[in-house]
Amino acid sequence: MNMNQMIVAPLSTAQSATVTPPAAQARIAIVGLGYVGLPLSLQFSRSGVNVLGLDIDSAKVEALNAGRSYIKHIESDAIKEQLKGGRFAASADFSRVREMQAVIICVPTPLNKNREPDISYILDTGRAIAPHLQKGTLVVLESTTYPGTTDEDLRAVLEKGSGLKAGDDFHLAFSPEREDPANPDSKVATIPKVVGGYTPACLELATKLYGQAIKTIVPVSSCRAAEATKLTENIFRSVNIALVNELKLVYSAMDIDVWEVIAAAKTKPFGFMAFYPGPGLGGHCIPIDPFYLTWKAREFGQHTKFIELAGEVNTAMPHYVVERVAEALNAHRKSINGSKILIVGLAYKPNVDDERESPSYELMNLLSKRGAAAAYHDPYVPVIKPTREHGHWAGTKSVPWDHATISSFDLILISTNHACVNYQELADWSRCIVDTRNAMATCQTKPGQVWKA
Ligand SMILES: NC(=O)c1ccc[n+]([C@@H]2O[C@H](COP(=O)([O-])OP(=O)(O)OC[C@H]3O[C@@H](n4cnc5c(N)ncnc54)[C@H](O)[C@@H]3O)[C@@H](O)[C@H]2O)c1
Repeated sequence: MNMNQMIVAPLSTAQSATVTPPAAQARIAIVGLGYVGLPLSLQFSRSGVNVLGLDIDSAKVEALNAGRSYIKHIESDAIKEQLKGGRFAASADFSRVREMQAVIICVPTPLNKNREPDISYILDTGRAIAPHLQKGTLVVLESTTYPGTTDEDLRAVLEKGSGLKAGDDFHLAFSPEREDPANPDSKVATIPKVVGGYTPACLELATKLYGQAIKTIVPVSSCRAAEATKLTENIFRSVNIALVNELKLVYSAMDIDVWEVIAAAKTKPFGFMAFYPGPGLGGHCIPIDPFYLTWKAREFGQHTKFIELAGEVNTAMPHYVVERVAEALNAHRKSINGSKILIVGLAYKPNVDDERESPSYELMNLLSKRGAAAAYHDPYVPVIKPTREHGHWAGTKSVPWDHATISSFDLILISTNHACVNYQELADWSRCIVDTRNAMATCQTKPGQVWKA
């Protein structure tokens, strides 16, 4: 297959409205249809590339083929439009990799219970696609991971399962995802895409592939440089968040408001970038990815002191917040033990429905351990789904938002500041609020009512 064959001509939108495109039309597969893989699939499809989304979760495959989104910030209509255009379909049949010119892998990369990288999802995907890999196919990994995953670990399973050789028979590349869920300014098409290839030909092909759907491609010299780029971006965030979290404690002891300081500092037009404190790290990138590098660095006799320190500071945040809750209750002659405490915002960041790895869980755990009756309100998370880490909260429902319910709590703890929550009502209905996000800043509050944490 040559480079030009990789360029997939857009199909006319008047074409077939069937949900499963005929084999000859489907040209690239995207494996893992989650927060990263689904928007990427839709962007390729919108750009005229035929996309087959592959996932082991049959419920997701079914939902997509029925035009139903399972991610809050992705409209069902956006999926329906691509289904109708005949350029997108979902499947759990990995043998269809045979029909593809390229396969892009966007599967999870968590930490295991010893906080070590778990690349088993990548390797499982490699094993599933390898028997169907054809000569000339391009395989691109997008999952965040340590340098060496693509050209060592993934390459080994692909070569073993296919009997083909990377760089000679099939192409291999790494291109990190820069998805920022729910950020309206963050569009897959306009965020520059870093790409590293196993060989110069792999890089050229991958650059061509992404160039069809994404405006700016940033080629780097190797898969490892591309893998390191993604980790560097996330380590940068983790370290800077730790820094402002530390400053929050220092300034709070001096009776200085860290939020006011950051707002003033960011008026400097150069050399400063604003990061904000919070109740602890959340999401599946910042608390996790830096430790992929820590683990790999050990193999080279290197220590990642900044990463470890940032991890220490950030993981101490929920404990600090709980101490502030104790102080606030104490001022009302109450203790955590026996108090009713409402966490506002379960999702790990504002305006998303994703609560995996949210510090709100840690806060609910710590408060319950100290005898509080902890509940939560989150319009985006009506009920907690069963998960491995927080199984004991499964089935717990978001409490309703009304005066009687909210005022029945001894303390409200704002953990995530969704824009759709009415914070003035909170000020009107609640006696005691601990605010980790500066959400009450513009509300009319009473003296002693709001405790920043
Ligand atoms: N969510 C983000 O904001 C974000 C941003 C940048 C990078 N990333 C990285 O992108 C990767 C994917 O993250 P995500 O948030 O999209 O995860 P996700 O959990 O939302 O989606 C992953 C999907 O992969 C599927 N899957 C799991 N194992 C599979 C297998 N063996 N074969 C096929 N499908 C499989 C799951 O069913 C799920 O649909 C991770 O490495 C993550 O670190 C995520």
